[in-house]
Amino acid sequence: MADRKRILVTRDFPPKGIDRLRENPAFELTQWERDRPMTGEELMERAKEHDVLLCTLTEKIDRAFLEECSHLEMISQVAVGYDNIDVEAATELGIPVGFTPDAMSDATADIAFGLMIASARKMFYLHNTIAKGEWGYFRPRGHLGMELSGKTLGIFGMGRIGMKTAQRCRGAFNMEILYCSRNRKPEAEKELYAGFVDFDTLLGKSDIVSAHCALRSDTRYIFNRDAFERMKPEAIFINTARGPIHHEPDLIRALENGEIRGAGLDVTDPEPMKPDNPLLFMENVCVLPHVGSGTKEARDEMSAMAADNIIEFYRNGRIPHIVNPEVLSG
Ligand code: DGY
Repeated sequence: MADRKRILVTRDFPPKGIDRLRENPAFELTQWERDRPMTGEELMERAKEHDVLLCTLTEKIDRAFLEECSHLEMISQVAVGYDNIDVEAATELGIPVGFTPDAMSDATADIAFGLMIASARKMFYLHNTIAKGEWGYFRPRGHLGMELSGKTLGIFGMGRIGMKTAQRCRGAFNMEILYCSRNRKPEAEKELYAGFVDFDTLLGKSDIVSAHCALRSDTRYIFNRDAFERMKPEAIFINTARGPIHHEPDLIRALENGEIRGAGLDVTDPEPMKPDNPLLFMENVCVLPHVGSGTKEARDEMSAMAADNIIEFYRNGRIPHIVNPEVLSG
């Protein structure tokens, strides 16, 4: 078929959605064959020969790239976050950007919830002491952790993932929920008795502060030295959103100085984290390699949603989950 749309699939995504595209005669797929992400040059070279990018957060799609590849008819991002894409530039160039919201909300909330318990009870650190042969004997006052029952959880960014995290904490530990968000969330207030507070109150009153916002210019490094200084010395900071929401040297300093108790991170800045990062050796810190959406269920759903965004675009001129709807409505 002469006018088949050429789709560049940048990573080895689960087949659930990719197979739908592959089996559709309207499309011709090129799969990047390596395990590692493409370099900028490799991506640019291949994108020039394609109509659509099916990509994720490992691809840097900045203004320079988009201006060189302004022929692209669509970008289908396999993620809820899209801070790797210059959406403003894509919009100016008339390129619609699809994404996959909510597919990973449960998976990511599970990781936030797990990191809270793991860091409150020093789980990763204690695991490593056994591996080092340091499990000598039971010590009545050794390695004491903190219980979460009845504590206060502060959600920064009460979107879909923030809500699911709060539901887990309320249900399992009867935690009091505070939240700071751009908009009020009546469902959180009704279902979880969540209190809408400003950032300072969130920092000052929460025993656990969990970040669930998107990375934007106003959230970049919002958890910095000043923010950590305002938190309780017993507080634990959780970040499953994006690494640069916290300022990593300030976080390290706050933990070293005892300004906060611990941290649970699924995202770091930079990624990957270097193996000699001091956070990896702290008792009250647990770090994971950005696996929040890493369940079979979530990744299958993300693949399916990203494929459907492309199929619907070419079938009906609409993208069910779109970041910049103004491109299609204009
Ligand atoms: C997302 O969806 O933005 C996650 O960080 C990666 O899947």
